[in-house]
Amino acid sequence: MHDTTTISDPALNIEHLRKDFPILDQTIYGSPLVYLDNAATTQKPEAVLKAMDDYYHTINSNVHRGVHYLSQRATEAYEGSRQKIADFINARHNHEIIFTRGTTEAINLVAASFGKKFLQAGDSILVSAVEHHSNIVPWQLICEEKGATLRVIPVDDNGELILHDLHRLLEGVKLVAFNYVSNSLGIINPVKHIISTAHSYNIPVLLDAAQAVQHMEVDVQDLDVDFLAFSSHKLYGPTGIGVLYGKEEWLNQLPPYQGGGEMIKTVTFEKTTYNDLPYKFEAGTPDMAGAIGLGAAIDYILGLGIRNVRQAEHNLMTYALDTLQDVQGIRFIGKADSANRAGVISFLVGDIHPFDLGEILDKQGIAVRTGHHCAQPVMDRYCIPGTVRASLAVYNNREDVDRLAAGIRKAAKLLLG
Ligand code: ALA
Repeated sequence: MHDTTTISDPALNIEHLRKDFPILDQTIYGSPLVYLDNAATTQKPEAVLKAMDDYYHTINSNVHRGVHYLSQRATEAYEGSRQKIADFINARHNHEIIFTRGTTEAINLVAASFGKKFLQAGDSILVSAVEHHSNIVPWQLICEEKGATLRVIPVDDNGELILHDLHRLLEGVKLVAFNYVSNSLGIINPVKHIISTAHSYNIPVLLDAAQAVQHMEVDVQDLDVDFLAFSSHKLYGPTGIGVLYGKEEWLNQLPPYQGGGEMIKTVTFEKTTYNDLPYKFEAGTPDMAGAIGLGAAIDYILGLGIRNVRQAEHNLMTYALDTLQDVQGIRFIGKADSANRAGVISFLVGDIHPFDLGEILDKQGIAVRTGHHCAQPVMDRYCIPGTVRASLAVYNNREDVDRLAAGIRKAAKLLLG
């Protein structure tokens, strides 16, 4: 397993590690920044910034293409990051790790390639009611092309997936795609149960782990998941790079997603043969600096210990739910307690529009996301225009939560009188 550290008590020295994130040390509209928009993107530790800076200062060149020294060093660093990612999620092989632009591109890759090969008219793809648009729209596109249908696992009033009908829902399904942690509600879904049920019908599963890998141990072999996608930038790494994990036996069956350099073995005008994994899915010059930055982010989080991160975030989540529930008029959307929740708290206060609340928090230096969080069907399910979403990262502390609670009270006073 990738994290062999034992949980220390207290789990982490948050005040100490905050110093690793230079962006946090600033004032916004005269108040110290409280950054609680981590589900949208996390801040980057100095080690990640330095790794990328070093890459451009010392070894920048194209990977896999040059006999020269710089290209070889860049290739080693790029492939070294692939190995770190494989170890991080406990993939059996490093060629099961495909670099993409992010979670969205990873899901689009599987939807397009799997759909092209395996989907036929009358088939279904099963998603859940709490998906991000990036795990809905790619499937709609391919279903439309193939005459297939999109089916949905419903969600209850508390934000938990309703699974008693899962066996019936799986009839005629070619692939199940759902998130590990909902980006709009923060609820951790019962992933193992859904994966093993789908597998009992030989149906493969894609897991959107964009809101999971930064908060808890994710072991693809233990989950026995077929495809898993996540983004670097939510894991303290740079933007523009992400990961698709796929079991070798699945990736080998899928046709390429994009054509170009790198993904080929031989090209003639008559016929092209494709490269081996993982390069078959990496057309064009990749984001070398991004991959190296992501490798540095993984080193950083493993240095903290992912179990320590989970423990520290769990402690803060418990404190945040306790503190916020005392705010008059607050209504949590998604009722999970801190044990079944990761990162995200979504809420409304009285009949204040989430955007108005977000704006007043912003003027107090508090960054949250407001709106539908790219999950419009979730908002429709609860008949709300959107929520205010506070999302935690490992550098958040109790003071951030106290500032948020005070900020909401101040906004409520201004808006509700
Ligand atoms: N997917 C990101 C979010 O949920 C942008 O905020």
